[in-house]
Amino acid sequence: MFFQEVLEAKADPIFGLNEAFQADPRPNKVNLVVGIYKDDALRPVLMPSVKRAKDELVATDFTADYLPIDGFPDFYNRIGGLVFGENLWAENQSRIYAGQTIGGTGAIQIGGQFLSQEGMKSIVIPNPTWPTHRSILERAGCTVDSYAYYDRKQHGVDFEALLSSLSSFPEKTAVLLHTVCHNPTGCDLSVREWEELSRFMKNRKLLPFFDFAYHGLGEGIEKDRKPIEIFLEEGHEMIVAYSCSKNFSLYCQRVGALFIVEENGLGKRRIGSQVKRIMRSLYSNPPAYGCQIVAHLLQVSSLRAEWEKDLASMRHRIASMRESLIQRLSASRSKTDFQFLLKHKGMFSFIDLEQSQVHRLIHEFGIFLTDNGRISLSGLSSRNIEYVVKGLIAVCESK
Ligand code: LMR
Repeated sequence: MFFQEVLEAKADPIFGLNEAFQADPRPNKVNLVVGIYKDDALRPVLMPSVKRAKDELVATDFTADYLPIDGFPDFYNRIGGLVFGENLWAENQSRIYAGQTIGGTGAIQIGGQFLSQEGMKSIVIPNPTWPTHRSILERAGCTVDSYAYYDRKQHGVDFEALLSSLSSFPEKTAVLLHTVCHNPTGCDLSVREWEELSRFMKNRKLLPFFDFAYHGLGEGIEKDRKPIEIFLEEGHEMIVAYSCSKNFSLYCQRVGALFIVEENGLGKRRIGSQVKRIMRSLYSNPPAYGCQIVAHLLQVSSLRAEWEKDLASMRHRIASMRESLIQRLSASRSKTDFQFLLKHKGMFSFIDLEQSQVHRLIHEFGIFLTDNGRISLSGLSSRNIEYVVKGLIAVCESK
């Protein structure tokens, strides 16, 4: 009686495809869809350091109480050190609001709601971007537009076009930036371009909103946070949404953090009070398990050192799969030159296929990737890479 008119929503462009992959009966199917780290046997891996932190925690965790509305201080303060670097964090902590969120997605949602309630509804996202950015931010009450980012002809970022499209937006527009490992393209700005963008946005009074979901999977912990350091040192006010899903393999625990950097520390308390009001009305307070694992790991120096090694080994496997893919594609003497993939960083590469080619890969070969031609490299293994190369060559040659 009440729900007869409900319309069916479209499947999610990432998780929906993952379900289609699961349902596919072909034994040689390949899953290059979701950004989740898998080892060479294609098993999702709980990092050994995180497993150890988890085991140590279980023995001592008697938490039965609620956490504060914006989470576990030991967690978000330690993440603050990772995001900004220990020195900048210590120097600027008095002007940075920090809180725990339900994953990086939750941080974007809370950040978006905060902006829209404070009258800064306009936000621009790169073209292309993670498809969920738009839906999260629209649901948060923001008005979402996009700015130029990737150019198919150059197979990379068109920085001039990026600046010129940003110059068309008014002051106080928030600009969503992928700190590192741009999703879906794998193409990041150079340090020099970040510096130029930081100056440009400061002059134009645009607000940086960093999505930092792949920390440590680009070039390492320090290099990956360079854009944040550049913007902080330039004196920007900004928002950072951080995810512990990929770099702590805590996907299902939903661990994230939100940072709001303001001018001089005078507004930090008021900002926190509004953020907490939003959190309280959405989910009351966050879960306590994943954040305690992260806090424990970052506090015990041997665990932290082990974690950095685990992170490096994930990064290296992904990079070696990318190199191996490029080598094999080049060796196949395909008409298409795939050398552009060399410049990519992180879990994804944009392979620049037409949608019809993507559909052929899925339907004819059982090689699943997102519609826009993004592949998740950790879905490649020594066992399936030859088959993926064969499929890619087939759909490229018959263009
Ligand atoms: C992805 O882009 O595949 C990941 O960020 C997982 C997700 O939530 O979409």
